[in-house]
Amino acid sequence: MPISKRATETLAIQSPMMEAFLESISKLYEPELNPTGALNLGVAHNDLLQQKVFEKAQECLLITPEDINYGAAEGSPRLRQIWRDFFTRHFNPIYPLQWHDIFTQTGAGASINQLFMVICDPGDYCLVPTPYYGAFDYDVGVNTGVKIFPMHLHRPDLNTMTVDPDLLETHYQRAQSEGKKITSMIVTNPENPLGRCYSVADIKEFLRFGSRHQIHMVFDEIYALSTYSQLLDNEEKKKEDPFVSVLSLPYKDFIDPALVHVVYGLSKDFAINGFRVGFIIDQFNKPLKSALYRSA
Ligand SMILES: Cc1ncc(COP(=O)(O)O)c(C=O)c1O
Repeated sequence: MPISKRATETLAIQSPMMEAFLESISKLYEPELNPTGALNLGVAHNDLLQQKVFEKAQECLLITPEDINYGAAEGSPRLRQIWRDFFTRHFNPIYPLQWHDIFTQTGAGASINQLFMVICDPGDYCLVPTPYYGAFDYDVGVNTGVKIFPMHLHRPDLNTMTVDPDLLETHYQRAQSEGKKITSMIVTNPENPLGRCYSVADIKEFLRFGSRHQIHMVFDEIYALSTYSQLLDNEEKKKEDPFVSVLSLPYKDFIDPALVHVVYGLSKDFAINGFRVGFIIDQFNKPLKSALYRSA
């Protein structure tokens, strides 16, 4: 047995986007493989800001002697307090956020993977509205044994993100009839690749749905601050739903709050994807927190 069954299953996961991405990265960084150069159009790198962000990062980065030693893998209390303040300011959590609700990871992708390691079992399925960010197949599936059940929720005749609850239910029932056990769902808000935000009504609909079926609801809010409706004039603005974090809604009124998880990361809003920083925010699930402490 050269590798485990788990790893063999992982190798079978298909993600054309990730495969193309990894290939392009290797070409970009190994010029002998690609003497003509390559322009990667498949990933959200903020190259226009690169020099500015680099200068700012250099200015801010300060390494202290303690950083050489082991630290808390989930992030130091100081780091998590800083991020608690950030999330409190920008996500308006309705239930006060504590620093120990926040777990640091090596990127949002790794946060999702870590989360699925502790919320789902091998063989479970995760509902994901389509079209979806192509690396979710890896993030959700690598080493977890969890598979994605894609579902199209948006009506093609409407240029909105409005979620039809009946359609949501139909997809769930279809999965059931195919013998697929749904235990989770990912909601990307703001959406990637659709580039829009879900309305408060839609988020509540998702929470009700999650509650009805007792499934974990993972909100990927990595693009939280990358919305521009505030820059539009009033007429256009009316058409756009602003970003609203699930943390700002009274989600306890809709669902067992232990089923609600939020993921964030610095790759997009902060344009520093090479730094590999992500967060899991979990307010009400004690066993999950204990499991995250052990696996961080
Ligand atoms: C919706 C979404 N979630 C997660 C990620 C992964 O982010 P990270 O670079 O922090 O792993 C991305 C990256 O493009 C994304 O678009």
